[in-house]
Amino acid sequence: MGIKEPVTVTVTGAGGQIGYALLFRIASGAMFGPATPVRLRLLEIPAGLKSAEGTALELQDCAFSNLDSVEVTGNAERAFDGTNVALLVGARPRGPGMERGDLLAANGAIFGPQGAAINVGAADDVRVLVVGNPANTNALIAAAHAPDVPAERFTAMTRLDHNRALGLLAGTLDVGVASIGNVIIWGNHSATQVPDISHAILTGADGSQRPLPDALAEALGGTDKVAAWLEGTFIPRVAGRGAEIIEVRGSSSAASAAAAAIDHVHDWVLGTSGSWTSAAVLSDGSYGVPRGLVSSFPVHSRNGAWEIQQGLSVAADVRARIDSSLKELEAERDMVKSLGLI
Ligand code: NAD
Ligand code: LMR
Repeated sequence: MGIKEPVTVTVTGAGGQIGYALLFRIASGAMFGPATPVRLRLLEIPAGLKSAEGTALELQDCAFSNLDSVEVTGNAERAFDGTNVALLVGARPRGPGMERGDLLAANGAIFGPQGAAINVGAADDVRVLVVGNPANTNALIAAAHAPDVPAERFTAMTRLDHNRALGLLAGTLDVGVASIGNVIIWGNHSATQVPDISHAILTGADGSQRPLPDALAEALGGTDKVAAWLEGTFIPRVAGRGAEIIEVRGSSSAASAAAAAIDHVHDWVLGTSGSWTSAAVLSDGSYGVPRGLVSSFPVHSRNGAWEIQQGLSVAADVRARIDSSLKELEAERDMVKSLGLI
């Protein structure tokens, strides 16, 4: 197979913690595979430029064979000129005791101008992943400033929540993460998110499949124990993991966030081949999620586009949780409207 054209990837906040965990993995081929060269554009504000420049020096020193070039800039229009994949990471992280929504006023103002710069110069096939918090609503802001880019190209990251759910289930069942499928994260990347295992399946070593809740009932000692475990352990643990990392590590998740960003873009571009995952995408009204909100759904990717997995039953307790996450997303949308950000 011949060498392909380089993919241009712009990473904002490139001098920060996630940037440092993300850029080397993109350059090493983890995002698009080893046959696709990457051209990296690193966007920073003045205070972060030196750090991004240092990262660029180290990228060069890695001698990655498919790293075409690295450019550091403080100019958003230059950073997004011709970009195929925009990873909007640059934003302030929350500290202990804060909710991600508390960052809306501080971070929201970043995403309008970046959406506008994407609108002006990005490649026709541009795909945008917002990582900076509050990610769902920041994606909404960026999309609102890019009227010439199809709004469904603006997505937000809930893959980290999805991966956290996989990790917790795998540990509890003492199985490998690859044997677990069809977990869902619904709603906002916030404490109201809804990790849902109603449709999850477990694949055994012999290839046989069974409902994951049945396996959980066996592991926990009865069907009645499953509901209590979901309510008391699984859901709060997954939804509260970001805060747990901040408390234990002293700063917000970085390497796991970078890994999730790689997974999201990899699957979006290369497809999910029969399985599904979770991503926050523009709602088309599916599952009663108001059109126009950027909310997490079960999704698969085909021909380079996310599609919402249709036709799944939603249990009453899950429905109630989704509705409260949607209320929060609507409140965030109303707040950015009132701040004049959309
Ligand atoms: P960090 O403070 O280490 O780095 C952020 C970087 O962004 C800094 O270098 C800063 O200079 C830069 N920046 C700020 N404004 C910018 C702008 N307008 N343009 C370009 N760069 C800008 O933070 P981090 O740990 O890398 O986290 C970044 C964001 O990602 C935070 O908002 C954090 O809450 C969020 N996050 C989201 C997820 C998720 O799952 N969606 C997971 C982890 C972290
Ligand atoms: C995370 O989920 O780790 C990030 O969104 C950071 C945070 O504030 O929790």
